[in-house]
Amino acid sequence: MVIRLKNVVKIYKVGEAEIRALNSVSLEIKKGEYVSIVGPSGSGKTTLFNVIGGLEPVDEGEIWVDDKPVHKLKEEELARLRREKLGFIFQDFYLLPTATALENVMMPQIGFKPTKEIRERAKMLLEKVGLKDRLHHLPSRLSGGERQRVAIARAFVTEPEVILADEPTGNLDSENSIMVIELLEAFHREKGTTILFITHNLDLANRAKRQINIRDGKIVRDEVR
Ligand SMILES: Nc1ncnc2c1ncn2[C@@H]1O[C@H](COP(=O)(O)OP(=O)(O)OP(=O)(O)O)[C@@H](O)[C@H]1O
Ligand SMILES: [Mg+2]
Repeated sequence: MVIRLKNVVKIYKVGEAEIRALNSVSLEIKKGEYVSIVGPSGSGKTTLFNVIGGLEPVDEGEIWVDDKPVHKLKEEELARLRREKLGFIFQDFYLLPTATALENVMMPQIGFKPTKEIRERAKMLLEKVGLKDRLHHLPSRLSGGERQRVAIARAFVTEPEVILADEPTGNLDSENSIMVIELLEAFHREKGTTILFITHNLDLANRAKRQINIRDGKIVRDEVR
């Protein structure tokens, strides 16, 4: 099991109000699974990713990534876990605007490996996502689909065991959406990377063998087709 959640509760307090963003969620994801996560806006999908990555503490329950108890780790250990085991992809790409495509992809590894080695790997990944002619472009000079492909290359530069993609196609047209999903599927096939992706697009969600449906902070359906 690469990810395991046991009775996880996440509460946000806003003034007097309490929002149970995750309401006793239990979940097991095996190594190498490719899983889509669907559910209405505000149902807790992004919160689920945030607690798996230790970006938000939980109020109750346990979260394990491999053999690491995320719910107990200190900030340094969490940073290391995110760097070594997890790759994040977001709807808004989050590229550094002042850095080129190549520099953006290199960024997560800088200081942890020889620069030359990182550059070679980053170039290889950019070539894989079809951007070998865009290495030195700033994000502002790339199309939306190209930006997301840079973000995908960046997420894979550390060879993560798990990719958490939060509406990676949310800002893309259908042609670019398919391209992005096909790239994730290719990495999944070739590297055995475990992939969880959140989407509002049911056609894309249906491409995954396992589909998890979240509603009001609970898993209401979890099916393998
Ligand atoms: N930092 C926060 N402070 C307070 N409430 C929050 C915070 N983040 C999320 N929430 C609330 O927690 C609930 C779950 O939010 P979450 O972002 O996980 O939803 P989501 O399923 O990702 O929705 P969407 O599809 O719109 O992205 C929502 O009711 C939201 O308003
Ligand atoms: Mg969200």
